[in-house]
Amino acid sequence: MDKRSFLKSVGLMSVAMPLNFLHLEQVVASVKHLDMADVASDEDFWLKVRGDYDLKPDYINLENGYYCFMPNQTMEHLIDHMRNVNYEGSYYMRTVQWENKKKIANAVAAIVGCTADEVAITRNTTESLDLVIGGIHWNAGDEAVMAEQDYGAMLNHFKLMEKRYGVVNKLVSVPNHPQNDEEIVDLYAAAITDQTRLLMVCHMVNITGQVLPVRKIADMAHARGVEVMVDGAHAFSHIEFKMQDLDCDYYGTSLHKWLSAPLGSGMLYVKKEKIDTVWPLFAESDLEANDMGRLNHIGTHPVHTDLAILNAIEYQNTIGLSRKEARLKYLQHYWTSQLRHFPRVVVNSPVEMSRHGGIGNVGIEGIEPADLEERLMQEYKIFTVAIDRPGVRGLRISPNIYTTTGELDSLVDAIKELSTL
Ligand SMILES: Cc1ncc(COP(=O)(O)O)c(C=O)c1O
Repeated sequence: MDKRSFLKSVGLMSVAMPLNFLHLEQVVASVKHLDMADVASDEDFWLKVRGDYDLKPDYINLENGYYCFMPNQTMEHLIDHMRNVNYEGSYYMRTVQWENKKKIANAVAAIVGCTADEVAITRNTTESLDLVIGGIHWNAGDEAVMAEQDYGAMLNHFKLMEKRYGVVNKLVSVPNHPQNDEEIVDLYAAAITDQTRLLMVCHMVNITGQVLPVRKIADMAHARGVEVMVDGAHAFSHIEFKMQDLDCDYYGTSLHKWLSAPLGSGMLYVKKEKIDTVWPLFAESDLEANDMGRLNHIGTHPVHTDLAILNAIEYQNTIGLSRKEARLKYLQHYWTSQLRHFPRVVVNSPVEMSRHGGIGNVGIEGIEPADLEERLMQEYKIFTVAIDRPGVRGLRISPNIYTTTGELDSLVDAIKELSTL
């Protein structure tokens, strides 16, 4: 074998597309003729998908918002990639590493309809968004707008900018049950002044599951000369959208969340014309100012993790993101609609299907969220997470595509019982 074909075979071995999707493909073929709503409620179909997951029998896992662990196929591919990269050693790193990273960026970009030259494969949302927050050339007195309900790591990074550069952070509070999109847009608009440089908005609020009207917020902010950064930790691979529909300047997400890629994988999107305005976290050598590679130097890291992103995408594509979105929304609606009007029970997530995905939040008046979390786990073997934040006190419930309606019936029964004790 000459050098050229050997290198090619090494490359192919490392990103070879899956061998064992046959079973899932057959299962999906059996529902292809059905419309989305029928597939979303087809328990037999989702029970077969559930077979791809190794589930602990100890409890019902309704806390996938932290990390959506991998189905077995992706897990097996990850192990193969680890074995191959370890076998090839530095040779892998010096031959196909960068070519493969480009393929991965291409595949991730395709999910949201942008090009790979606007995408960096990062380690998580924190890295993606904090890189932008920390990479903007701030001047004292510049302002940034965000929400109390945003994620702590990003709020903390803005606080760091306040200490370091004198940035002024303005916080809005997002209502759990907005009357309409304009109510939310107006809220953000009221916080903008002539000094505002950047507005951060969650695509899906992690503690309530509420989907925010990002495009309308972006249009309003852009009209006032303000850049828009979207925290897409929970929206990417959960709800279907294209980057051009949002028209934001920056978008960060974790691929180990709803894409079910291995831990430590994320994505940063930067609109082409904004790339040269952001300072990198780690300097890259001699690239054009508008080359996304400038923002993506992280040194040597577990490249096998990056490779398995392709397998996670293949898994998702086999099911179909639209089927996955429909199922997740269906599951959220399934349990919230049974609890929404129950005495003492407070559902902190909007009712309209267009304003939520699979995540919901529920509390019981008179019971502290932390106590409720503990009682659900101890007495009912249901694993959730307590949320005690401004305007949101309850449990975040985040099922995944392997969750059954039977498991959600257990949640509904438990909440009803605890609320009547
Ligand atoms: C809204 C939101 N943003 C950012 C993050 C940070 O994600 P990661 O820890 O993967 O960087 C999370 C994590 O749960 C989140 O919910």
